[in-house]
Amino acid sequence: MIWKRKLRDETAEPIGSDQVDPDLSDTLPDNQTAPAPTVIDGTPGASGEVWRRAAAEPGPMLPRFMASAFDDVETDLANESARRRLALRDALGASQPVIARESFAGRREAMSALINAVEEQRVHVVIYGERGIGKTSLAHVFAETAREARYLVIYGSCGTAANFSDMFRSVCARVPRIYHNSVLPNSAEAEKGDTFEVMLPEGQYGARELADVMAGVVGTRVLVILDEYDRVVDVNFRREVAELIKNLSDRAARVQLIITGVALNLDELIGYAPSIRRNITGLPMRPMNSVEVKELLRLGERAAEIRYDAAALAMITQMAGGSPYLVRLLGHQAGLLAMNDNRSVVGDADARVAVERVIAEWQASLPRRVQANLARDEARVHWGLLVAAARAGSSADGWFTVDDVYAEMGGVHSPLAIERDLKLFVNTVDLLERREGPGDPHFRFGYPGVASLLMMSAAMARLAA
Ligand SMILES: Nc1ncnc2c1ncn2[C@@H]1O[C@H](COP(=O)(O)OP(=O)(O)O)[C@@H](O)[C@H]1O
Ligand SMILES: [Mg+2]
Repeated sequence: MIWKRKLRDETAEPIGSDQVDPDLSDTLPDNQTAPAPTVIDGTPGASGEVWRRAAAEPGPMLPRFMASAFDDVETDLANESARRRLALRDALGASQPVIARESFAGRREAMSALINAVEEQRVHVVIYGERGIGKTSLAHVFAETAREARYLVIYGSCGTAANFSDMFRSVCARVPRIYHNSVLPNSAEAEKGDTFEVMLPEGQYGARELADVMAGVVGTRVLVILDEYDRVVDVNFRREVAELIKNLSDRAARVQLIITGVALNLDELIGYAPSIRRNITGLPMRPMNSVEVKELLRLGERAAEIRYDAAALAMITQMAGGSPYLVRLLGHQAGLLAMNDNRSVVGDADARVAVERVIAEWQASLPRRVQANLARDEARVHWGLLVAAARAGSSADGWFTVDDVYAEMGGVHSPLAIERDLKLFVNTVDLLERREGPGDPHFRFGYPGVASLLMMSAAMARLAA
């Protein structure tokens, strides 16, 4: 496993705790990706060992051969192939968000909308969309861009146990006190290298006290990214964040929040403090289009010196349904298959096998309970409905209504029948959850990943037929 750990170490760890979505961890089995460990570690093989010992020997060196007899064409080829496999993994591995611009594909519209919201409108932003759609990656690459424009960007990942005071204490600890209007440039406080943290009350505090401190920012603009906001359980945290936005907006503070989560978080924030509606904007992350998918796969092509032919590209694009996570998973698998076969062109046969594998592994990674529910007769009978529901839910937050499913099914079933059947998967077979509230009832798949699995399986079935 050394090679694996090394890979992880080389990826700069962003601040915040758990970046990697446990549900989206790379599902590729080790044997698919483990190249010969000698190359990865840089551990010299037998020949290298000799060289190293020779170099360590004292005294003048006797003449030696230039190359080891081991360094023949075959090992060179093996090393070369291992290097390319590793390069492909680096380029298309799907277990980490993208943190650097070079590895970021497409998303120009989202990026410019985000920049515009921050720079022109000076509003707070909620970036929303389903898991794996690329919110965290966008946030990181945006942060890099904003830092170049001299914004002070603080990234924080929210965990289930996030606490308002603790979270913002660590945010404040990263804002130098010289940016506070109460501190003169060259004064003793400025010289001490303190941060905004020293101005916060001890213990627990609320949005108002925090805004008192943050309203003092001068000489820069501060952007606070709260990633994975939907994971926060504490209702108080969320209410305080709404209150904070209200206070910062009222006082025209030079601090803006960028929150990633689900659309519901946006409604909720506005629900807590209706007056912030005009100070906050929602940015939906849409599925990637085919041009963006191509651009993403291009990263793999360049790294591993391979090429996805038009048919492979089309299949990966279709199967991934706009999820960059799936594009990477499929692109990586298909690329490895071609490379195993010493081909540099990835064809649709590779893509097809990749899809089958990903579906199988995906299914196996679901909790047993979910797998059992998917295998039940009800699911088999209503497969078409479930697939339509999955498609209907591929909007930004996964929620869909009876009407959405009706539209997906081409209007062949009555809305009443659809509602009845959807409820079956809420009450009898536990695959969907239902949100009560004003307006139409909303449904959503209870376990993330089920919808993508359904859509991929359906697309595969169509292909086979
Ligand atoms: N624009 C992009 N270009 C390349 N890869 C991306 C892009 N956006 C997301 N990804 C990849 O997709 C996966 C999920 O992205 P992530 O940002 O973690 O999504 P989210 O935060 O919405 O769950 C990661 O493996 C990430 O590397
Ligand atoms: Mg994320």
